[in-house]
Amino acid sequence: METSRERYIPALGYRFLSPVYDPVVSLTCREKTFKSRLLNQADLRHGHLVLDVGCGTGTLAVQMKKAVPKAEIVCIDGDLQILSIARGKAGRNNTEVRFSCCFSTQLPFRESSFDRAVSSLFFHHLSRTQKIATMQEIHRILKPGGQLHVADWGKPTGMIMRSLFYFIQILDGFSTTSDNVKGLLPQIIRQCGFDSVEICNNLPTIFGTMTLYSAIKPGPAKV
Ligand SMILES: C[S@@+](CC[C@H](N)C(=O)[O-])C[C@H]1O[C@@H](n2cnc3c(N)ncnc32)[C@H](O)[C@@H]1O
Repeated sequence: METSRERYIPALGYRFLSPVYDPVVSLTCREKTFKSRLLNQADLRHGHLVLDVGCGTGTLAVQMKKAVPKAEIVCIDGDLQILSIARGKAGRNNTEVRFSCCFSTQLPFRESSFDRAVSSLFFHHLSRTQKIATMQEIHRILKPGGQLHVADWGKPTGMIMRSLFYFIQILDGFSTTSDNVKGLLPQIIRQCGFDSVEICNNLPTIFGTMTLYSAIKPGPAKV
């Protein structure tokens, strides 16, 4: 669970489960639906520089590159094992995507350089301190007017959704997931300097409520 000096939670909670990540997520999380909606709301354009934070096996990255071939897609993840799965997937799909192994709390990119930052199923892997540090880093690397689009577990829309989410909490831990259940992500995003923070969608899944968020780094114009 430890690489460099930073701890991280692997894709399915344990490294030995990473090879089955794709089928599990595809069968249980309405992955096609929520990733397509995230892609639509991100409104990617030719020439955009896009960062996928906590890219995992690269499904969203490949989807983005196929949808907008002239956008440049850069992905980061802290886990070398999952990145090798992602590189394989990008290769098989003939998509050119850049992958970098690093932690989200220290992004190796220039400030104000990206048009979009996207992230899916990622923030519930981070402690409150890591969530804030990551959000500040995303804010730093986005251009003024640049947009953030996130899909992650959100505040459950009812008792059934709440109960189902205990499976995820047992797998990924209670401390990192409790901000999600309490619906605190919008507040954290705002606290890190973003404007126009919105909940764009709530989708029921068999593991709980999947929520899509958007936000803008304040600036002269949307990019
Ligand atoms: C549940 S997976 C999500 C993968 C992908 N975004 C998706 O939608 O399927 C979470 C990923 O976050 C990565 N991760 C966890 N903490 C991290 C950190 N601090 N910095 C970078 N990556 C991290 C894990 O290695 C894992 O691949």
